[in-house]
Amino acid sequence: MDAIISPRAGPAERSGGATGPLPLVAGAVFGLKQAMSTQSPTTWITICDTCKREGWVAASGETDGERLAALVEAAARDMPVRTRRVSCLMGCQQGCNVAVQAAGKLNYTLGRFEVSEEAAQGIVDWAVLHGESASGQVPYRTWPAAVKGHFVTRHPPLPDAE
Ligand code: FES
Repeated sequence: MDAIISPRAGPAERSGGATGPLPLVAGAVFGLKQAMSTQSPTTWITICDTCKREGWVAASGETDGERLAALVEAAARDMPVRTRRVSCLMGCQQGCNVAVQAAGKLNYTLGRFEVSEEAAQGIVDWAVLHGESASGQVPYRTWPAAVKGHFVTRHPPLPDAE
């Protein structure tokens, strides 16, 4: 399954000129874990790049999903969300489809999007609100108009313990 996932950008690279291995000091490691646990998990927008809406023409050379993905990626540039593409979210009858997810939060799938800058911007704006929410729940009054009527599923976060 991982083979079809292609993140737009990898994890942030360490900078600052470190030239050797980091010292294995217990306090430093503990401090790192503390810092990580206080950060809000990253919200990801996963865009299906194989969605084809009714009327799609193969000769166009690109799927509707690819075109929407490009618009979402452009709208997400410099925003506090990440994007990735996958081939099929299993909602093919109601494309174009995206998922908005973050670890430990409510996760959502949205569909029935046309390919437009307005749709892409609405998806990104809503995902930013998802990222700012501790639970992933976003008050309806703050939803961009472009996502209203497009929610398909909501998934509760997995429990911490097995
Ligand atoms: S092709 Fe997009 S959900 Fe299946």
